[in-house]
Amino acid sequence: MRLTILGGGGFRVPLVYGALLGDHAEGRVTHVTLHDLDAGRLGAVVRVLAEQAGDDPGAPAVTVTTDLDEALTGADFVFSAIRVGGLEGRAADERVALAEGVLGQETVGAGGIAYGLRTVPVAVDIARRVARLAPDAWVINFTNPAGLVTEAMSRHIGGRVIGICDSPVGLGRRIARVLGAHPDEAWIDYVGLNHLGWVRGLHIAGRDQLPRLLGDPGLLGSFEEGRLFGPDWLQSLGAIPNEYLHYYYFNREAVRAYQEAKQTRGAFLRDQQARFYEEMRRADAPALETWDRTRAEREATYMAENREAAGVGERDACDLESGGYEKVALALMRAIARNERTTLILNVRNRTTLSLLDEDAVIEVPCFVDAGGAHPVSVAPLPDHATGLVCSVKAVEREVMAAAESGSRATAVKAFALHPLVDSVSVARRLLDAYTSEHPGLAYLNRK
Ligand code: G6P
Ligand code: MN
Repeated sequence: MRLTILGGGGFRVPLVYGALLGDHAEGRVTHVTLHDLDAGRLGAVVRVLAEQAGDDPGAPAVTVTTDLDEALTGADFVFSAIRVGGLEGRAADERVALAEGVLGQETVGAGGIAYGLRTVPVAVDIARRVARLAPDAWVINFTNPAGLVTEAMSRHIGGRVIGICDSPVGLGRRIARVLGAHPDEAWIDYVGLNHLGWVRGLHIAGRDQLPRLLGDPGLLGSFEEGRLFGPDWLQSLGAIPNEYLHYYYFNREAVRAYQEAKQTRGAFLRDQQARFYEEMRRADAPALETWDRTRAEREATYMAENREAAGVGERDACDLESGGYEKVALALMRAIARNERTTLILNVRNRTTLSLLDEDAVIEVPCFVDAGGAHPVSVAPLPDHATGLVCSVKAVEREVMAAAESGSRATAVKAFALHPLVDSVSVARRLLDAYTSEHPGLAYLNRK
């Protein structure tokens, strides 16, 4: 089986390759094609993968290319993990937003809109090429903002694109552990949009254990989301939100923490990764060791400003080992390629799951996966305040897709202005002006 990774020179590619190395079953991936625009980054990643493979005779063969059509032709699976504008772009998204006093995070609020406006046209171009060159391939979208990008691609390749994220999986794993269950024995009632979802139940052996968790401040204080949101707020909500809801429920604190931070997340990662790729140019650099050290530092500082704003300490040791994205991606690929039926929380078209959204809206929801793809399962309806947020943010995503298609500045302004975390139309106008002068990738927004 042939897997193509777009953004193949990206820092997290070795996580995926590590997961593939652990798969010895019949029908596993035997060829990996890495595509990237930057040959230097591809060279660095290839060195890490070679050290990971060692002398394992079953290690998937790796080829690299900077030609997109060549990369797609003949692929069975395509992982799309691109970053339009690079980490410099991510840092600019944050800088511009924070200067206006709003959030610049890459998936939430103004930053997510700017990143979406840059990414959607590129993702749509990829989807069109997949339809032409690899019409039977399945696309697994890792690219943020993952829900929006998956929906934009699904307009061209339908259910053959599936978006993934590890934050609901991590949340489910943490809650199950706190309740003394193995994550595989727990059924998690989770739904929303990507980075905007809530756990409303966790059923172990048919019994909902969430009320037990919500009723016990000690248990609530023993895992990441419990500490981030605090027991009182979780009891009021009657649900456990995805960690990214911290940007909504504690918006002022999060914005202030990011403004006061020495560096934003994007700027930190930009510098950290520049050092990594620079080190990889030295022929004698220990590739895997350098990569792993860099990865560990990245994990340890994930959402550090939010944790600081909430006054909680460092991440739990068990949250530092990876095992998120790559495990979800591998499980998804195996389920489809070998009909190994499983249930995973994924970003797929709504169908009739949430009555508040139309059938084609991409949502994040537990799905039953088999050779026919990912099928959302039915879940309890969302409470009113969650319905409100989901509808508002989906409306914003739709404006982003419309602006990407038409090149209309008015539509792009509308996307910013309608977001619940952008509090003025004037701010929205200034944001668009600043982003278009900052990013060459937004030059297409040149119509009224
Ligand atoms: C989580 C999120 C992802 C994000 C990743 C890395 O897994 O769900 O969407 O890409 O963290 O975040 P970072 O800030 O390290 O880029
Ligand atoms: Mn994510």
